[in-house]
Amino acid sequence: MLTSIKNNHLKYESQKLGMMYFRVAIILFGAQLLMGLIAAIQFMYPSFLYGVFDFSVARMVHINALVVWMLYAMIGSVYLMLPDETGIETVGIGLGKLAFWVLTAAVTVVVLVFIFIQIGSGTESSIWFINEGREYLEAPRWADIGIVVVVLIFYYNVFFTYMKGQRTGIMTVMVANLMALAGLYLAGMFFTDNISMDQYWWWWVIHLWVEATWEVFVGTLAAYALIKIIDAKREIVEMWLWIEVLMLFGSGILGLGHHYFWIGTPEYWWEIGALFSSLEPVPLVAMFVHVLYDWGKEQGANGERPVIKNGPAMAWLVTNAFGNFLGAGIWGFFHTLPQVNIYTHGTQFTAAHGHLAFFGAYATILIGMMYYGVQRAHGIEKMKATFKSKMAITLIVFGMLGMTVALTIAGYEQVLVERAELGAGWDAYFVAQALPWMKQAMGWRTVMGVVIFVGFVYLVWDLLTIGSKESKENN
Ligand code: HEM
Ligand code: HEM
Ligand SMILES: [Fe+2]
Repeated sequence: MLTSIKNNHLKYESQKLGMMYFRVAIILFGAQLLMGLIAAIQFMYPSFLYGVFDFSVARMVHINALVVWMLYAMIGSVYLMLPDETGIETVGIGLGKLAFWVLTAAVTVVVLVFIFIQIGSGTESSIWFINEGREYLEAPRWADIGIVVVVLIFYYNVFFTYMKGQRTGIMTVMVANLMALAGLYLAGMFFTDNISMDQYWWWWVIHLWVEATWEVFVGTLAAYALIKIIDAKREIVEMWLWIEVLMLFGSGILGLGHHYFWIGTPEYWWEIGALFSSLEPVPLVAMFVHVLYDWGKEQGANGERPVIKNGPAMAWLVTNAFGNFLGAGIWGFFHTLPQVNIYTHGTQFTAAHGHLAFFGAYATILIGMMYYGVQRAHGIEKMKATFKSKMAITLIVFGMLGMTVALTIAGYEQVLVERAELGAGWDAYFVAQALPWMKQAMGWRTVMGVVIFVGFVYLVWDLLTIGSKESKENN
């Protein structure tokens, strides 16, 4: 996939551009994992790379690379599906390509600046040129504005193609949802001196992305992918999609309240957050049922085993249905009531949920889309999983589950010792950090990180080779 595919079977420029987005996404995914490993080692040996590559920088690049690779893979998926759904080449695709290069150059500059200027005081000019200091969205302001311009071009591509071509239900949801997704970014663009206010708006991006607009986004991807991979019926898939949209927005928007418990916002958020965020697992169950139902239904219709046109993509799609439900639904629900969150807030429990949710809900389906892109680029009718595909999914999933267990144990220890027993003070934090349960958990997290990284190597290797192997077999 990373090499330019010689006999490219993609008819549309839009789809070729989609593949370019995928290439950068996978490189950034690799960078994310390396940064995670460095940060994990620093948890065990705090002096590791101290003064050379500090924990604060490793952690920051880890989570920013996460967000950026996912956005790349999401944009790539849209350029891939757009001609299929609308029946035409993407409008203004030349501009779309230019935007890709501008965005990629900007991302490179931002990362280099993060690495070269690691410490210093926060001033107006550091906000503009170095770091805006808002977790997950740390890009400096010049880049923020650049991102808005690039996204406007992307949206212009999508919207005008939709207006000109055929309009499917999937694309209608996509176009409306993308507007909300992009619009929300504006809420997180500007740092404000009042920390309560700053956090208030910052959550509009973070929460309303991952628990509303990104969820709807992957709903549309799953709908499209199920039609392509197992010939699911469009009417059924679209019916599910509309139900999911209703439920996701119904619970996710006011579910925002679960981040407003302790930041200085009025107390009525306790009730609002508790109620609506508790309902959030419901649409996730629906999405889970949706994938399995469609799959089972196709099986029933033929009276035999279902024809899966892309083995690895389908495996990742099913992992997505489970992962979204477990990571976001279950691990999210655990700590969403204020009565629980007062103990778990900001512990490793949060990190356990953050890892499993981002992985389960988003990484999985985006990897699935990459496999689907490879299949299309090589013009393969039916793509079967290889040994490498199986190693990749097994190691990555096992590693992520193992890491989640380790972090959950660490979080549990913090809740019992640091919060409940010792009263959540400064000293209590350090006592809890030094206990064996914490140290062992941090060790296991690192081990599991290595497992994930080995799985990632298999993944890249597979994406690079599976297409040519399969197309040779097909000829
Ligand atoms: C795919 C969807 C989701 C993703 C990617 C996700 C990710 C995250 C991440 C990364 C954080 C930590 C934020 C920080 O750095 O402070 C977080 C916090 C939180 N999430 Fe989720 N989440 C998802 C869905 C959910 C759901 C459905 C619920 C509840 C049912 C939930 C409940 C919470 C709560 C209560 C917190 C605050 C934790 C604390 O107080 O420390 N999340 N989430
Ligand atoms: C090699 C594998 C990985 C390792 C070793 C690793 C390690 C780490 C470390 C050490 C942190 C900082 C935690 C802290 O400040 O307490 C972190 C944060 C985070 N990582 Fe990873 N990570 C890995 C893979 C991933 C993956 C695959 C994802 C998502 C798909 C992810 C998402 C996150 C998120 C969302 C946070 C912020 C969590 C929070 O603030 O609660 N990581 N990771
Ligand atoms: Fe949330």
